[in-house]
Amino acid sequence: MYASDGSGGTGPVPKGQAARTKVTAPALRARKGGEPLAMLTAYDFTMARLLDRAGVDILLVGDSLGMVFQGLDTTIPVTLDEICYHSRAVARGAEHAHVVADMPFMSFQLSATQALESAGKLVKEGMAESVKLEGGSEVAEQVRRIVRAGIPVMGHVGLTPQSVHAMGGYKVQGKGPDAAARVLADARALDEAGAYAIVLEAVPPDLAAEVTAGVSVPTIGIGAGAGCDGQVLVCYDMLGMNLGHTPKFCKRFAELGERIDEAVHAYVRDVREGAFPGREHCYKPNGSAEVASHRA
Ligand code: KIV
Repeated sequence: MYASDGSGGTGPVPKGQAARTKVTAPALRARKGGEPLAMLTAYDFTMARLLDRAGVDILLVGDSLGMVFQGLDTTIPVTLDEICYHSRAVARGAEHAHVVADMPFMSFQLSATQALESAGKLVKEGMAESVKLEGGSEVAEQVRRIVRAGIPVMGHVGLTPQSVHAMGGYKVQGKGPDAAARVLADARALDEAGAYAIVLEAVPPDLAAEVTAGVSVPTIGIGAGAGCDGQVLVCYDMLGMNLGHTPKFCKRFAELGERIDEAVHAYVRDVREGAFPGREHCYKPNGSAEVASHRA
C-alpha cells in the first residue's frame, strides 16, 4: 500500500506533471492573477498524501473538521489542540503542498497577543506553514502581529462559519450594496495588514470578482464563482463521501461514498463466506523474515 523505500515519499509524480518543489506562502502570493490555485481541506496523513500526490497547491486543516470529522453541527467547539493534532498528521503527508492550519473560534479574538500565541503553537507543534483566521477589519491587528512574527496569514471573509450565530445561519453574504462594500473593505483591511491570500466564502460571483480586482493578494473562493484567483472545497464533499446535503457550490468529482459501500459489502460477504483471507494473505510457517506492518 505504501512506498517501501522508507522515505515516506508519495511515489512518482503523476504522468505529465513536472517534479514539484514545496509550495511556500510567497510563491502562493506571487500567483495573483496567474494559474488558479487549487486548495482542498485535509485532516489526516493518508488523505493528505493522496491529495498532495494529485497536485493540490494548498492543504487546509480546516476547522470544518468539527463537522465532517467529529460530526458536530458547527465549527465552534473545535479546539486549538485538535487543529494542532490534525495539522501534524497532514504536514507529514504534504511533501509538496503548502499546509495552512485554521485558527479555531476564540483562539485569536481576545487580543493580538493571544492570536500570536495560538498561531505560534500551530506552526511549532502543528507543523503548519501558515495559519488562516476568519474576520475582516476587526482582526487586522491580529493579522499584523502574526505576520510581523514571521508567520504567513491567510484571511477569510464573506460567510465566516465561526460567526454562524451572529449571521443567523449559514447565509450568503455581501448581498446588497452596503453588505458588498463591507466585504470589500474587510478584504482590503486584511490585504493591508499583510495577509498573503484571502478566502472568500459564499458571496455573489460579481462581488467576488470585484474583491479579487480590489486586493493585491490571491483570493480563494468557496461558493464565490469563477472570478477568484483559486478555489477551495472540503475534500469529503468533492470526493462524494458526504452522505448528507451537498452544498450548491460543490461539484462532486467522484462518488467515493458509493465505492466504499460496495467495497465494504464485498468484505463483509467474503468474511462471512470464508472467502477472505485466502492463502495469499497468510504468512509462511518458516523461511525469510516477513514484514507485518502496513507501513513497510
Ligand atoms: O474550515 C474550512 O474547511 C474552511 C474552508 C471551507 C474554507 O474554512
